Amino acid sequence: MSFAILATEPLAPQVTRFRVSAPRVARSHRAGQFVIVRVEANGERIPLTVSDADADAGWIELIVQAVGHTTSVMAGLGAGDELPDVVGPLGRPTDVEAYGTVAVVGGGVGTAIAYPAAVALAAEGNDVVAIIGARTKELVILEDEMRQVAGQVIVTTDDGTKGRHGFVTDALADLITERTIDRVIAVGPIPMMRGVAEVTRPQAIPTVVSLNPIMVDGTGMCGGCRVLVGGETRFACVDGPEFDGHQVDFDILDLRNRAYLEFEACHRQEPSDAHA
Ligand code: NAD
Ligand code: FES
Repeated sequence: MSFAILATEPLAPQVTRFRVSAPRVARSHRAGQFVIVRVEANGERIPLTVSDADADAGWIELIVQAVGHTTSVMAGLGAGDELPDVVGPLGRPTDVEAYGTVAVVGGGVGTAIAYPAAVALAAEGNDVVAIIGARTKELVILEDEMRQVAGQVIVTTDDGTKGRHGFVTDALADLITERTIDRVIAVGPIPMMRGVAEVTRPQAIPTVVSLNPIMVDGTGMCGGCRVLVGGETRFACVDGPEFDGHQVDFDILDLRNRAYLEFEACHRQEPSDAHA
């Protein structure tokens, strides 16, 4: 069985949205879950979060940043091409309850993962405030989509070319002094998620982060995705990918991901954390 690519759309430099025919995944997927994709028949498996799905039409959407060999090959595919493997949905869905006001924070490509959480939280009646940040204006993604589901959208850019000048964490720090925020969900690079957890820690605002460690099998067997949360080893693929941001050991996560990046640089392969 293979999985046809129905359409592609460039969202930003190096960032593409793929609509893929995967009826079984589309039927059972919930926000926060991911699939493991193989782009070449015997190639590497990469975890990709499902950013949208239509159960009736039988498609899922994946947003992919070309960061290495496999994701660059995928970026070169178009409508009519096929993916040999799409396995999932995997991982635990996002916890979605009526919390009140929820800040959904997306850093760069992490916005692709934050978006389905925003949709699910809004559908549950939460007032969603979206904070989406990127290095520069061309890299801001899913702003229009976020405006459809969030009562307030704050855009930040590191260089000030769009929205507020600064990091998403700066906007969040101000937001929590201006409004009561009942919960925060943050997805993006490790320093950003660590920063978000530090911003919310003094007020003990429940804060969920979506981790992107190395993944291989995605089924809890290989141990590749282990992370330390509250002093306990957890597997991001089956226990996560979302965890309590105040309990995550970001130092260990960063070290493990860096070690792999160094290995990758030597072997000219790509990281499996193209998790978007
Ligand atoms: P980036 O480095 O351009 O950062 C995006 C935004 O995050 C910045 O604009 C800023 O607002 C915020 N940010 C970055 N560093 C920060 C810091 N030190 N303190 C506070 N805020 C900070 O991001 P990118 O290039 O789009 O993403 C690349 C990284 O994100 C990769 O490492 C990738 O693995 C990771 N990623 C993680 C997930 C996930 O599931 N957690 C998903 C997609 C991408
Ligand atoms: Fe192998 Fe999680 S990816 S245990």
